[in-house]
Amino acid sequence: MATYLITGIAGFIGSNIARALLARGESVRGVDNFVTGKRANLEDLPGIDFVEGTIEDPAVCACVCKGIDYIFHEAALASVPRSVADPVSTNANNVTGTLNLLVAARDAGVKRIVYAGSSSAYGDQPTLPKQEDMVPDPISPYAVSKLTGEQYLRSFSRVYGMETVTLRYFNVFGPHQDPSSQYSGVLAKFSLGMLEGRTPVIFGDGSQSRDFTFIENVVEANLAAMHAPADKVSGKVFNVATEQRITLNDAVNILRELTGYTGPVEYAPPRTGDIAHSLADISRARAAFGYAPKVDFHEGIRRTLNWYRGLTAAVR
Ligand SMILES: NC(=O)c1ccc[n+]([C@@H]2O[C@H](COP(=O)([O-])OP(=O)(O)OC[C@H]3O[C@@H](n4cnc5c(N)ncnc54)[C@H](O)[C@@H]3O)[C@@H](O)[C@H]2O)c1
Repeated sequence: MATYLITGIAGFIGSNIARALLARGESVRGVDNFVTGKRANLEDLPGIDFVEGTIEDPAVCACVCKGIDYIFHEAALASVPRSVADPVSTNANNVTGTLNLLVAARDAGVKRIVYAGSSSAYGDQPTLPKQEDMVPDPISPYAVSKLTGEQYLRSFSRVYGMETVTLRYFNVFGPHQDPSSQYSGVLAKFSLGMLEGRTPVIFGDGSQSRDFTFIENVVEANLAAMHAPADKVSGKVFNVATEQRITLNDAVNILRELTGYTGPVEYAPPRTGDIAHSLADISRARAAFGYAPKVDFHEGIRRTLNWYRGLTAAVR
Protein backbone atom coordinates (compact mmCIF):
# COMPACT_ATOMS: atom_id res chain seq x y z
CA MET A 1 0.00 0.00 0.00
CA ALA A 2 1.17 3.55 -0.74
CA THR A 3 1.99 6.05 1.98
CA TYR A 4 1.22 9.74 1.50
CA LEU A 5 2.78 12.78 3.14
CA ILE A 6 0.75 15.98 3.38
CA THR A 7 2.64 19.12 4.37
CA GLY A 8 0.41 21.74 5.97
CA ILE A 9 -2.03 19.00 7.04
CA ALA A 10 -3.55 21.15 9.80
CA GLY A 11 -4.52 23.80 7.25
CA PHE A 12 -7.63 24.21 5.15
CA ILE A 13 -6.60 22.41 1.95
CA GLY A 14 -4.17 19.94 3.53
CA SER A 15 -6.75 18.64 6.01
CA ASN A 16 -9.34 18.25 3.26
CA ILE A 17 -6.92 16.21 1.14
CA ALA A 18 -6.22 14.06 4.21
CA ARG A 19 -9.96 13.41 4.75
CA ALA A 20 -10.31 12.25 1.15
CA LEU A 21 -7.27 9.95 1.38
CA LEU A 22 -8.45 8.41 4.67
CA ALA A 23 -11.90 7.84 3.14
CA ARG A 24 -10.14 5.79 0.46
CA GLY A 25 -8.34 3.75 3.11
CA GLU A 26 -4.91 5.23 2.37
CA SER A 27 -2.07 5.60 4.83
CA VAL A 28 -1.34 9.27 5.66
CA ARG A 29 1.47 11.13 7.41
CA GLY A 30 1.25 14.86 7.98
CA VAL A 31 3.55 17.65 9.06
CA ASP A 32 2.55 21.10 10.30
CA ASN A 33 3.94 23.78 12.60
CA PHE A 34 0.51 25.37 13.31
CA VAL A 35 1.66 28.79 12.13
CA THR A 36 -1.81 29.16 10.60
CA GLY A 37 -3.11 25.59 10.87
CA LYS A 38 -5.49 24.43 13.60
CA ARG A 39 -5.35 21.42 15.88
CA ALA A 40 -9.13 21.18 15.43
CA ASN A 41 -8.54 20.31 11.76
CA LEU A 42 -6.74 17.13 12.87
CA GLU A 43 -9.54 15.97 15.16
CA ASP A 44 -11.44 14.05 12.49
CA LEU A 45 -8.31 12.50 10.95
CA PRO A 46 -8.03 9.23 12.88
CA GLY A 47 -4.93 7.13 12.44
CA ILE A 48 -2.72 9.68 10.71
CA ASP A 49 0.94 9.74 11.57
CA PHE A 50 1.38 13.40 12.60
CA VAL A 51 4.70 15.19 13.08
CA GLU A 52 4.73 18.71 14.54
CA GLY A 53 7.57 20.65 12.96
CA THR A 54 8.59 23.14 10.33
CA ILE A 55 9.72 22.38 6.81
CA GLU A 56 12.17 25.25 7.26
CA ASP A 57 14.22 22.60 9.11
CA PRO A 58 15.94 20.15 6.72
CA ALA A 59 16.05 17.50 9.48
CA VAL A 60 12.26 17.63 9.83
CA CYS A 61 11.92 17.22 6.08
CA ALA A 62 14.28 14.23 6.05
CA CYS A 63 12.35 12.62 8.90
CA VAL A 64 8.88 13.06 7.40
CA CYS A 65 9.91 11.92 3.89
CA LYS A 66 11.25 8.56 5.10
CA GLY A 67 9.17 5.71 3.65
CA ILE A 68 6.87 8.06 1.73
CA ASP A 69 5.63 7.32 -1.80
CA TYR A 70 3.69 10.48 -2.63
CA ILE A 71 3.66 14.05 -1.31
CA PHE A 72 0.96 16.71 -1.42
CA HIS A 73 2.87 19.89 -0.58
CA GLU A 74 0.41 22.39 0.90
CA ALA A 75 2.47 24.03 3.67
CA ALA A 76 3.02 27.74 3.11
CA LEU A 77 2.22 31.15 4.50
CA ALA A 78 -0.78 31.55 2.23
CA SER A 79 -1.52 35.26 2.29
CA VAL A 80 -0.76 38.23 0.06
CA PRO A 81 -1.12 40.94 2.76
CA ARG A 82 0.93 38.89 5.22
CA SER A 83 3.74 38.69 2.65
CA VAL A 84 3.54 42.45 2.06
CA ALA A 85 3.88 43.00 5.82
CA ASP A 86 6.69 40.43 6.24
CA PRO A 87 8.27 39.19 2.99
CA VAL A 88 11.19 37.49 4.75
CA SER A 89 9.12 34.97 6.69
CA THR A 90 7.01 34.27 3.60
CA ASN A 91 10.19 33.47 1.71
CA ALA A 92 11.53 31.26 4.51
CA ASN A 93 8.36 29.18 4.77
CA ASN A 94 7.43 29.05 1.11
CA VAL A 95 10.74 29.00 -0.74
CA THR A 96 13.31 27.59 1.69
CA GLY A 97 10.69 25.17 3.04
CA THR A 98 9.86 23.92 -0.46
CA LEU A 99 13.52 23.51 -1.39
CA ASN A 100 14.23 21.58 1.82
CA LEU A 101 11.28 19.31 1.11
CA LEU A 102 12.39 18.66 -2.47
CA VAL A 103 15.90 17.71 -1.36
CA ALA A 104 14.53 15.35 1.30
CA ALA A 105 12.02 13.85 -1.15
CA ARG A 106 14.76 13.28 -3.71
CA ASP A 107 16.99 11.58 -1.14
CA ALA A 108 14.10 9.41 0.13
CA GLY A 109 13.14 8.26 -3.38
CA VAL A 110 9.61 9.75 -3.23
CA LYS A 111 7.69 8.85 -6.39
CA ARG A 112 5.82 12.11 -7.01
CA ILE A 113 5.18 15.54 -5.45
CA VAL A 114 2.06 17.54 -6.24
CA TYR A 115 2.55 21.18 -5.24
CA ALA A 116 0.03 23.85 -4.28
CA GLY A 117 0.83 26.60 -6.76
CA SER A 118 -1.10 29.83 -6.99
CA SER A 119 -2.96 31.87 -9.60
CA SER A 120 -1.13 34.87 -8.15
CA ALA A 121 1.74 33.84 -10.46
CA TYR A 122 -0.16 35.51 -13.33
CA GLY A 123 -0.24 38.90 -11.63
CA ASP A 124 -2.52 41.59 -12.99
CA GLN A 125 -2.18 40.97 -16.71
CA PRO A 126 -5.40 42.01 -18.47
CA THR A 127 -5.66 38.87 -20.61
CA LEU A 128 -8.43 36.54 -19.46
CA PRO A 129 -8.74 33.64 -19.07
CA LYS A 130 -5.32 32.85 -17.67
CA GLN A 131 -3.50 30.07 -19.49
CA GLU A 132 -0.50 28.24 -18.12
CA ASP A 133 1.81 29.26 -20.96
CA MET A 134 1.40 32.98 -20.24
CA VAL A 135 4.55 34.66 -18.96
CA PRO A 136 4.24 34.89 -15.16
CA ASP A 137 4.14 38.37 -13.66
CA PRO A 138 3.95 38.01 -9.87
CA ILE A 139 3.24 41.19 -7.91
CA SER A 140 3.32 40.39 -4.18
CA PRO A 141 6.14 38.70 -2.29
CA TYR A 142 3.66 35.84 -1.75
CA ALA A 143 3.21 35.42 -5.52
CA VAL A 144 6.98 35.48 -6.04
CA SER A 145 7.45 32.82 -3.37
CA LYS A 146 4.79 30.50 -4.83
CA LEU A 147 6.19 30.89 -8.34
CA THR A 148 9.71 30.22 -7.08
CA GLY A 149 8.43 27.01 -5.53
CA GLU A 150 7.01 25.96 -8.90
CA GLN A 151 10.29 26.66 -10.60
CA TYR A 152 12.17 24.57 -8.05
CA LEU A 153 9.78 21.71 -8.77
CA ARG A 154 10.42 21.99 -12.48
CA SER A 155 14.13 22.18 -11.86
CA PHE A 156 14.05 19.00 -9.75
CA SER A 157 12.16 17.25 -12.55
CA ARG A 158 14.76 18.28 -15.10
CA VAL A 159 17.91 17.90 -13.04
CA TYR A 160 17.13 14.89 -10.86
CA GLY A 161 14.38 13.24 -12.92
CA MET A 162 11.83 13.59 -10.10
CA GLU A 163 8.12 13.52 -10.88
CA THR A 164 6.70 16.88 -9.85
CA VAL A 165 3.39 18.55 -10.67
CA THR A 166 2.21 22.10 -9.93
CA LEU A 167 -1.48 22.90 -9.54
CA ARG A 168 -2.20 26.63 -9.63
CA TYR A 169 -5.22 27.04 -7.38
CA PHE A 170 -7.62 29.93 -7.94
CA ASN A 171 -9.18 31.29 -4.68
CA VAL A 172 -10.21 28.13 -2.89
CA PHE A 173 -13.07 28.17 -0.37
CA GLY A 174 -15.06 25.67 1.69
CA PRO A 175 -15.32 23.86 5.03
CA HIS A 176 -12.33 24.08 7.39
CA GLN A 177 -11.09 27.40 5.97
CA ASP A 178 -10.09 29.64 8.87
CA PRO A 179 -12.29 32.76 8.98
CA SER A 180 -10.71 34.26 12.08
CA SER A 181 -7.48 35.92 10.99
CA GLN A 182 -6.92 39.28 9.32
CA TYR A 183 -5.26 37.22 6.58
CA SER A 184 -8.16 34.80 6.06
CA GLY A 185 -9.69 34.20 2.63
CA VAL A 186 -12.46 36.63 1.76
CA LEU A 187 -15.29 34.08 1.43
CA ALA A 188 -14.43 32.48 4.76
CA LYS A 189 -14.58 35.88 6.46
CA PHE A 190 -17.78 36.97 4.71
CA SER A 191 -19.56 33.62 5.22
CA LEU A 192 -19.09 33.44 8.98
CA GLY A 193 -19.30 37.22 9.43
CA MET A 194 -22.62 37.61 7.60
CA LEU A 195 -24.09 34.57 9.37
CA GLU A 196 -23.25 36.36 12.61
CA GLY A 197 -24.64 39.69 11.34
CA ARG A 198 -21.27 41.42 10.94
CA THR A 199 -20.67 44.01 8.18
CA PRO A 200 -18.56 42.65 5.28
CA VAL A 201 -15.65 44.92 4.33
CA ILE A 202 -14.72 44.98 0.64
CA PHE A 203 -11.30 46.39 -0.28
CA GLY A 204 -11.93 48.35 -3.50
CA ASP A 205 -15.28 48.91 -5.20
CA GLY A 206 -16.27 45.23 -5.28
CA SER A 207 -16.04 44.95 -9.07
CA GLN A 208 -12.87 42.85 -8.77
CA SER A 209 -13.57 39.27 -9.81
CA ARG A 210 -12.27 35.85 -8.89
CA ASP A 211 -12.58 32.29 -10.16
CA PHE A 212 -13.64 31.01 -6.73
CA THR A 213 -13.08 27.26 -6.49
CA PHE A 214 -14.83 24.96 -4.05
CA ILE A 215 -12.48 22.75 -2.04
CA GLU A 216 -13.86 19.43 -3.30
CA ASN A 217 -12.81 20.33 -6.84
CA VAL A 218 -9.30 21.08 -5.59
CA VAL A 219 -9.06 17.80 -3.67
CA GLU A 220 -10.19 15.83 -6.74
CA ALA A 221 -7.65 17.62 -8.91
CA ASN A 222 -4.88 16.71 -6.47
CA LEU A 223 -5.81 13.03 -6.35
CA ALA A 224 -6.12 12.83 -10.14
CA ALA A 225 -2.83 14.66 -10.76
CA MET A 226 -1.02 12.38 -8.33
CA HIS A 227 -1.89 9.26 -10.32
CA ALA A 228 -2.00 10.53 -13.91
CA PRO A 229 0.60 9.12 -16.32
CA ALA A 230 3.96 10.84 -15.76
CA ASP A 231 4.37 11.85 -19.41
CA LYS A 232 1.14 13.87 -19.15
CA VAL A 233 1.85 15.75 -15.93
CA SER A 234 5.42 15.58 -14.70
CA GLY A 235 7.34 18.87 -14.70
CA LYS A 236 4.14 20.66 -15.74
CA VAL A 237 1.83 23.37 -14.40
CA PHE A 238 -1.98 23.21 -14.38
CA ASN A 239 -4.72 25.69 -13.47
CA VAL A 240 -7.29 24.36 -11.00
CA ALA A 241 -10.43 26.48 -10.99
CA THR A 242 -14.02 26.46 -12.24
CA GLU A 243 -14.01 28.90 -15.19
CA GLN A 244 -16.71 30.90 -13.37
CA ARG A 245 -16.08 34.60 -12.79
CA ILE A 246 -17.69 36.09 -9.68
CA THR A 247 -17.20 39.68 -8.49
CA LEU A 248 -16.98 40.42 -4.78
CA ASN A 249 -20.24 42.37 -5.08
CA ASP A 250 -21.87 39.24 -6.64
CA ALA A 251 -20.50 37.12 -3.81
CA VAL A 252 -21.91 39.44 -1.15
CA ASN A 253 -25.31 39.50 -2.85
CA ILE A 254 -25.43 35.69 -3.01
CA LEU A 255 -24.40 35.53 0.65
CA ARG A 256 -27.13 38.01 1.52
CA GLU A 257 -29.73 35.68 0.00
CA LEU A 258 -28.35 32.59 1.69
CA THR A 259 -27.63 34.04 5.13
CA GLY A 260 -30.51 36.52 5.42
CA TYR A 261 -28.02 39.33 6.17
CA THR A 262 -29.69 42.70 5.52
CA GLY A 263 -27.09 45.11 6.92
CA PRO A 264 -24.70 47.42 5.07
CA VAL A 265 -21.50 46.62 3.13
CA GLU A 266 -18.40 48.67 3.93
CA TYR A 267 -15.99 49.68 1.15
CA ALA A 268 -12.34 50.33 2.08
CA PRO A 269 -9.34 51.38 -0.08
CA PRO A 270 -7.89 48.58 -2.26
CA ARG A 271 -5.03 46.58 -0.71
CA THR A 272 -1.49 46.65 -2.07
CA GLY A 273 -0.58 43.50 -3.99
CA ASP A 274 -4.17 42.46 -4.75
CA ILE A 275 -5.13 41.90 -8.38
CA ALA A 276 -8.22 43.13 -10.22
CA HIS A 277 -9.51 40.09 -12.10
CA SER A 278 -8.81 36.41 -12.14
CA LEU A 279 -10.32 33.73 -14.34
CA ALA A 280 -8.78 30.44 -15.44
CA ASP A 281 -8.72 28.30 -18.53
CA ILE A 282 -8.75 24.74 -17.19
CA SER A 283 -8.52 22.88 -20.49
CA ARG A 284 -4.95 21.72 -19.84
CA ALA A 285 -5.91 19.96 -16.58
CA ARG A 286 -8.98 18.50 -18.26
CA ALA A 287 -6.88 17.00 -21.06
CA ALA A 288 -4.05 15.73 -18.86
CA PHE A 289 -5.93 14.16 -15.95
CA GLY A 290 -9.64 14.54 -16.64
CA TYR A 291 -10.19 17.42 -14.23
CA ALA A 292 -13.81 18.60 -14.31
CA PRO A 293 -15.10 20.73 -11.42
CA LYS A 294 -18.22 19.06 -10.03
CA VAL A 295 -19.32 21.70 -7.52
CA ASP A 296 -20.12 25.22 -8.79
CA PHE A 297 -19.94 28.46 -6.83
CA HIS A 298 -23.55 28.49 -5.58
CA GLU A 299 -23.53 24.90 -4.39
CA GLY A 300 -20.07 25.41 -2.86
CA ILE A 301 -21.24 28.46 -0.92
CA ARG A 302 -24.32 26.61 0.31
CA ARG A 303 -22.17 23.76 1.64
CA THR A 304 -19.67 26.20 3.14
CA LEU A 305 -22.39 28.11 5.00
CA ASN A 306 -23.78 24.85 6.37
CA TRP A 307 -20.36 24.04 7.75
CA TYR A 308 -19.97 27.48 9.39
CA ARG A 309 -23.50 27.16 10.82
CA GLY A 310 -22.38 23.93 12.51
CA LEU A 311 -19.31 25.71 13.83
CA THR A 312 -21.29 28.57 15.38
CA ALA A 313 -23.86 26.13 16.82
CA ALA A 314 -21.03 24.12 18.42
CA VAL A 315 -19.54 27.25 20.03
CA ARG A 316 -22.87 28.37 21.53
N1 LIG B 1 -6.64 28.93 -0.19
C1 LIG B 1 -6.43 29.41 -1.40
O1 LIG B 1 -7.28 30.07 -1.97
C2 LIG B 1 -5.12 29.13 -2.11
C3 LIG B 1 -4.96 29.63 -3.42
C4 LIG B 1 -3.76 29.38 -4.08
C5 LIG B 1 -2.78 28.61 -3.47
N2 LIG B 1 -2.96 28.15 -2.20
C6 LIG B 1 -1.89 27.37 -1.59
O2 LIG B 1 -2.46 26.20 -1.03
C7 LIG B 1 -1.72 25.80 0.12
C8 LIG B 1 -2.65 25.58 1.29
O3 LIG B 1 -3.34 26.79 1.59
P1 LIG B 1 -4.50 26.89 2.66
O4 LIG B 1 -5.52 27.82 2.13
O5 LIG B 1 -4.89 25.52 3.11
O6 LIG B 1 -3.74 27.67 3.83
P2 LIG B 1 -3.67 27.31 5.40
O7 LIG B 1 -2.98 28.47 6.04
O8 LIG B 1 -5.00 26.91 5.91
O9 LIG B 1 -2.73 26.02 5.40
C9 LIG B 1 -1.33 26.08 5.31
C10 LIG B 1 -0.79 25.13 6.38
O10 LIG B 1 0.63 25.07 6.26
C11 LIG B 1 1.18 25.13 7.57
N3 LIG B 1 2.54 25.65 7.44
C12 LIG B 1 2.92 26.87 6.99
N4 LIG B 1 4.25 26.98 7.02
C13 LIG B 1 4.73 25.81 7.48
C14 LIG B 1 6.03 25.31 7.74
N5 LIG B 1 7.11 26.07 7.54
N6 LIG B 1 6.16 24.03 8.20
C15 LIG B 1 5.06 23.25 8.43
N7 LIG B 1 3.82 23.68 8.20
C16 LIG B 1 3.65 24.94 7.74
C17 LIG B 1 0.23 26.02 8.34
O11 LIG B 1 0.31 25.90 9.75
C18 LIG B 1 -1.11 25.57 7.79
O12 LIG B 1 -1.63 24.49 8.53
C19 LIG B 1 -0.68 26.88 0.35
O13 LIG B 1 0.53 26.44 -0.20
C20 LIG B 1 -1.21 28.07 -0.44
O14 LIG B 1 -0.17 28.92 -0.88
C21 LIG B 1 -4.11 28.40 -1.51
